[in-house]
Amino acid sequence: MTLADFLRHELVLTGTHVGCEHGVCGACTILLNGRTARACLTLAVQADGRAVTTVEGLAAPGGALSPLQQAFWETHGLQCGFCTPGMLVTLTELLNENPAPTEAEIREVLTGNLCRCTGYQAIVDAALLAAERMRTRA
Ligand code: FES
Ligand code: FES
Repeated sequence: MTLADFLRHELVLTGTHVGCEHGVCGACTILLNGRTARACLTLAVQADGRAVTTVEGLAAPGGALSPLQQAFWETHGLQCGFCTPGMLVTLTELLNENPAPTEAEIREVLTGNLCRCTGYQAIVDAALLAAERMRTRA
């Protein structure tokens, strides 16, 4: 069983989306011990003993949106929302590692995540806005 199917069908964590099921679209991206991984290419058993973070785990325990989620909302960084969980997880890893990414660095990271709706600009804007706010608050 893949990790994507385990999350969605066994744990009913349906925030992790499944698009291509062969590692291309990025919709199933999750964090495995803090690093992005394709849940459709990872077996559930491979996650045994490791920390798995899905889009459901990005908000604060009380439900407050993360700075990145808030920025997505404000910049209209999503339309249909299918790609959004993977986008958020991918950009969360980037912002954890690089608090001041350039637009080019954000676009390079997003080459692994396909979006059919937004044209990407609003997603890039959201990442830049979130990075700026996180630096200001730090
Ligand atoms: S569903 Fe995993 S990369 Fe597309
Ligand atoms: S918002 Fe629809 S695929 Fe990205």
